[in-house]
Amino acid sequence: MPSNFEVLNLALDLKILQPQILHTEQISSTNTYFLQHHSYPNGTVLLADYQTGGKGRHGRMWHSPPEQALLFSVLLTERCNRAFLHVYTFLAAVAVFEGLEMLGGGAFKLDLKWPNDVLLEGHKLCGILVQNRLVGNEMSQIVIGIGINVNQPANFFIGELSQGTSLNIALGRKLDRVEVLKQVLVGLDHWLFILGDSGEIAIFNRWKALCSSIGKRVLVNDGRQIYTGIFKDLSNQGGLVLETGGHCRVFYAADVTLTKETSDVGCN
Ligand code: BTN
Repeated sequence: MPSNFEVLNLALDLKILQPQILHTEQISSTNTYFLQHHSYPNGTVLLADYQTGGKGRHGRMWHSPPEQALLFSVLLTERCNRAFLHVYTFLAAVAVFEGLEMLGGGAFKLDLKWPNDVLLEGHKLCGILVQNRLVGNEMSQIVIGIGINVNQPANFFIGELSQGTSLNIALGRKLDRVEVLKQVLVGLDHWLFILGDSGEIAIFNRWKALCSSIGKRVLVNDGRQIYTGIFKDLSNQGGLVLETGGHCRVFYAADVTLTKETSDVGCN
């Protein structure tokens, strides 16, 4: 373990995740670190105050100023099943939603946006990036990377970041990022246990219950074309099932925009 890593003891009662939570002030990317260093046990958490090369979906960067966002990755090395990789994105979104809802105590309204965003009052509060490492044909580890905007001020979210928001903006006060981490880890541990116990259907059902755009009109951009239709369901593989032009089309990689009709009912 590098000398600039410290071990945090958060005294959490976890079933699946290990109590080993590593903290560092600065790193390129917590996800990339786990993908490149293979000696850590299942359930290890790596938390960083700042990432110089934070990774987002579709090869994008994930920017956060030092010590303001909660940036961490969870490493899973057991029971990795390649066919079920997608489920970890939904699992993480549900865990973040529930953890933050508990923290907010009804002070703000959260929503989920397919496939990996947690929204607060219609603005992006959290992004999730699930990656995996293959050894031959076997998936040897999964890394769940989570970035939550905690203490950024309103003037951080300008230009290309204008769709973002933070807990600070919603609550009008700064939060201790470790308190936010604790809530989310308890949620992740709970849903990892449920996944092992009841399977992925339980995760999908909970995700659908928390996503207000299911059954509503959305725009889906698959990089080649923009489709408009009704977000009917999640497929068994976590794809977005869109009813469009009289039939259903399933998307696995696309950007979704919620329409006026969707936002009128609370999901922007
Ligand atoms: C997205 O919405 O595009 C996903 C963003 C995921 C960002 C988190 S921050 C912690 C972890 N390390 C990374 O490099 N990315 C994820």
